[in-house]
Amino acid sequence: MKKDTVTITDNATGKSFELPVTRGTMGPRAIDISRLYRDHDFLTFDSGFQSTASCSSQITYIDGEKGVLLYRGYPIDQLAGQSTFLEVAYLMINGELPTAAQLEDFQGNIRRHTMIKESLKGFFKGFYHDAHPMATMVAVAGSLSAFYHDTLDIHNPLHRELAAYRMIAKMPTIAAASFKHSISEPLIYPKNNLSYCGNFLHMMFSLPSEDYQVDPIAEKALDMIFILHADHEQNASTATVRLSGSSGANPFACLSSGITALWGPAHGGANEAVLRMLSQIGSIDQIPKYIAKAKDKNDPFRLMGFGHRVYKNYDPRAKLIRQMCHEVLNKISGTGDPMLELAMRLEEIALNDEYFIERKLYPNVDFYSGLIYKALGIPVNMFTVMFAIARTVGWVAQWMEMISDPDQRIGRPRQLYTGSQQRDYVPMKKR
Ligand code: SDX
Repeated sequence: MKKDTVTITDNATGKSFELPVTRGTMGPRAIDISRLYRDHDFLTFDSGFQSTASCSSQITYIDGEKGVLLYRGYPIDQLAGQSTFLEVAYLMINGELPTAAQLEDFQGNIRRHTMIKESLKGFFKGFYHDAHPMATMVAVAGSLSAFYHDTLDIHNPLHRELAAYRMIAKMPTIAAASFKHSISEPLIYPKNNLSYCGNFLHMMFSLPSEDYQVDPIAEKALDMIFILHADHEQNASTATVRLSGSSGANPFACLSSGITALWGPAHGGANEAVLRMLSQIGSIDQIPKYIAKAKDKNDPFRLMGFGHRVYKNYDPRAKLIRQMCHEVLNKISGTGDPMLELAMRLEEIALNDEYFIERKLYPNVDFYSGLIYKALGIPVNMFTVMFAIARTVGWVAQWMEMISDPDQRIGRPRQLYTGSQQRDYVPMKKR
């Protein structure tokens, strides 16, 4: 059996050396370069980490060529069709599907932590009403460490578990409070006899002056969308949470760093950008003009919701959300949504255009999700907040996996220095 190594030949010196090759359960083999610098004085260069595995993980597997997404080995379409968001959260954190008793216990632990400290509610008053809810989320989520940091030993499994419950439980409460503040309505307390998504809808849309009935169609649609957004291996925000956590920072500070990274339009901010793009396009006859702009290298315009670093096939999540769009939009709004028609026409034209075909640019999870959020009455500036609520489960699971790894070390990438050679300071009178 050939040794699992690769041989590197340095043509500048004619010297060769071997590097070990490692492999996971599935996916491409990896060249282990952890000793490359120490033993052979070489760095590797991979801006944007296009070919770099930053860690090993057992949580999520993606096959970008085949459009496959597994959470702990279970296909995303089976989980979306048969599971619930909190059951997926249990699976993601613990590695196995729960028994009925384990799920009930887990749901009870989440319910017990849905409220936020009364004094924390004052933080929202410090923001203007036009503050972007993601700005509020970054601030308030990170401030949780001011309330719980003293009871938090990240190397104590019980403390990690408690922090996990708190983050998963409080994100919907903080998100709904960010929304209520932005529309100058009173913050609504959670009602723990409701489901996770039902409670969120209640905190978002109920008023102290009226009874509120959770719409079961909206509740089910939201639960499925949260499942689809729960985790996605080492995406930008999860990698940020891991890097923050690798220094020993408390989990709430790491959560805030994940929300920050998710906000960008190239990542979780894309769902908000898609709706703004569809509004900008306006009508089907304008599509060719915007497709041309997306292809023009001199034009910064990109087709938001299209393309993906890993998927070079249809994002399996987009396929499921697209299907849900038809079901939900007709049930909720009763009529076809012109935005959905526009989105589907845009997709059809793009997928038949050589530029997109050649670059394997397909719709991703963000292309359709906003259309459902809009139908549920969620405003565009809350779309990325929705993504953050769901992705908190992935961030928490990946953070717990990293911190409990005995080989875990601080993440500290190197660089390719392209600046000035050493030079002497020039006094002002000689410049
Ligand atoms: C998410 O990583 C994850 O897993 C993320 C995510 C998750 O669940 O965590 O899946 C969620 O972030 C989905 C992606 C949401 N972002 C968008 O929809 C924004 C629009 N998409 C692009 O910005 C882009 O496709 C990225 C950021 C998603 C991927 O960027 P890459 O992998 O760096 O791709 P690239 O920039 O190298 O593009 C390759 C080519 C380039 O053209 P050439 O230089 O080869 O001529 O494709 C072009 C790009 O210009 N291209 C696009 C395009 N996306 C890529 N051209 C027009 N419109 C686009 N959307």
